[in-house]
Amino acid sequence: MRICVIGTGYVGLVTGTCLADLGNQVICVDNNQEKINMLKKGKMPIYEPGLAELVVKNTKEKRLEFTTKIKEGVEQSQIIFISVNTPPKEDGEADLSFVETVTAEIAVHMREYKIIVEKSTVPVETGEKIMQTIKLYNTHKTGFDVVSNPEFLREGSAIKDTMHPDRIVLGVSSKRAEKIMRELYRPLKAPIIVTDIKSSEIIKHASNSFLAMKISFANAVANICDRVGADVEKVAEGMGYDKRIGREFLNAGVGFGGSCFPKDLAAFIYIAKKSGYDFELLRAVQKINEQQKKLLLQKIEESLWVLKNKTIGVLGLAFKPETDDLRFAPAIDIIKSLQAEGAKIKAYDPIAMSKARKVLPGVKYGQNAYEVAKGSDLLVIVTDWNEFKELDLGRIKKLLKTPIIVDGRNIYDPAKMKKLGFIYKSIGRK
Ligand code: UDX
Ligand code: UDX
Repeated sequence: MRICVIGTGYVGLVTGTCLADLGNQVICVDNNQEKINMLKKGKMPIYEPGLAELVVKNTKEKRLEFTTKIKEGVEQSQIIFISVNTPPKEDGEADLSFVETVTAEIAVHMREYKIIVEKSTVPVETGEKIMQTIKLYNTHKTGFDVVSNPEFLREGSAIKDTMHPDRIVLGVSSKRAEKIMRELYRPLKAPIIVTDIKSSEIIKHASNSFLAMKISFANAVANICDRVGADVEKVAEGMGYDKRIGREFLNAGVGFGGSCFPKDLAAFIYIAKKSGYDFELLRAVQKINEQQKKLLLQKIEESLWVLKNKTIGVLGLAFKPETDDLRFAPAIDIIKSLQAEGAKIKAYDPIAMSKARKVLPGVKYGQNAYEVAKGSDLLVIVTDWNEFKELDLGRIKKLLKTPIIVDGRNIYDPAKMKKLGFIYKSIGRK
């Protein structure tokens, strides 16, 4: 099939590349000339495992191309995905101006029947707005359908998630569009749920909010475990075997970040409020997440008393492992609060440091975890990269000024840490 993907960010670039790899003819459009130039040369603007190889392979085999011109993309394709960003405004409402601009431009260039797919996470009723906008600018009065097809890919495992999804959700308003979209996704052999457009839009918000709720629930339970001397890992394991609950997304830690959960949660609360419903439960999910970032700071203060002029080593900056993404990364809030208290920060992240330099000035960046530990008064784990799990802790202990580790991701065994002579504090464990 002939596909156009507008917006080559984490979502659009992965979606376009995977669809090309499935044998489709894909043209990816982005208004950022620099990004398109990089992609044409096979260089990635983002880090995502396996993506570079797949982009290069499909470009070489002439199934994948890049342009800055929406016109080119629309003319060549039958299905047009919109995956531009939908950033949050102050009050949580999603800013849909990019979606609107792109939609209007698609409409102007349509000369035959097209399917316009909303892939970006958008508030309910955006599908209708897209339809209305296309009608307004569709000068050649061509036929078209709008489809809502939310993505559920996680950064760090985005290709696997796209190629092996748990389900594919299609919000459609015509049988014609349903048939074409089913055909597009047939090779993935995943369950396909077909709904109306509004239900599909809500599925995305409800799914992300539910997962965020699981994390905040685990964090709240961790706080009780901390107080009574229980172990949240064991509690999560014990709960997780119940199929109705499931073990995933019950890991207590520094709280969730990233471009989706904080934004989608705020947007869902806003949508609910606008429809006359106060989604108190989700407001509590947000509140717990904010408190969780402060908890790590409390643990650091408890250990060092005064932070002024102390050197704190931070391991991990990205909002999760296997990505260079720093959007809403807990590390940003944590480092800024420590700096406000007068602490000096040394930090290391395997991938995210070049992006971090732009948003976190005043930080001394190390080449590895040992360089960060050297001379630091305390080491704090913020992202659970695998390489931190495999550190030579004996060496780390010798390098630290005082052997204190505050572990925001529960990656070490408390008993082992005690044996090694560390003052070790984690989340919700004895
Ligand atoms: C974004 C949203 O954040 C997410 O909610 C949604 O589900 C999908 O889109 P992501 O891919 O992570 O996710 O965004 P980002 O990495 O910011 O990429 C958006 C891309 O769109 C950028 O490359 C930007 O240059 C491009 N863009 C933006 C356009 O091509 N045209 C525009 O008018 C605006
Ligand atoms: C999420 C959704 O999982 C995905 O389906 C959607 O399409 C986009 O948003 P992503 O943000 O890439 O994906 O990563 P995810 O693995 O969900 O992690 C989000 C945040 O939650 C990270 O900061 C992570 O560290 C945190 N998290 C996750 C926890 O704190 N505990 C957990 O148990 C799981």
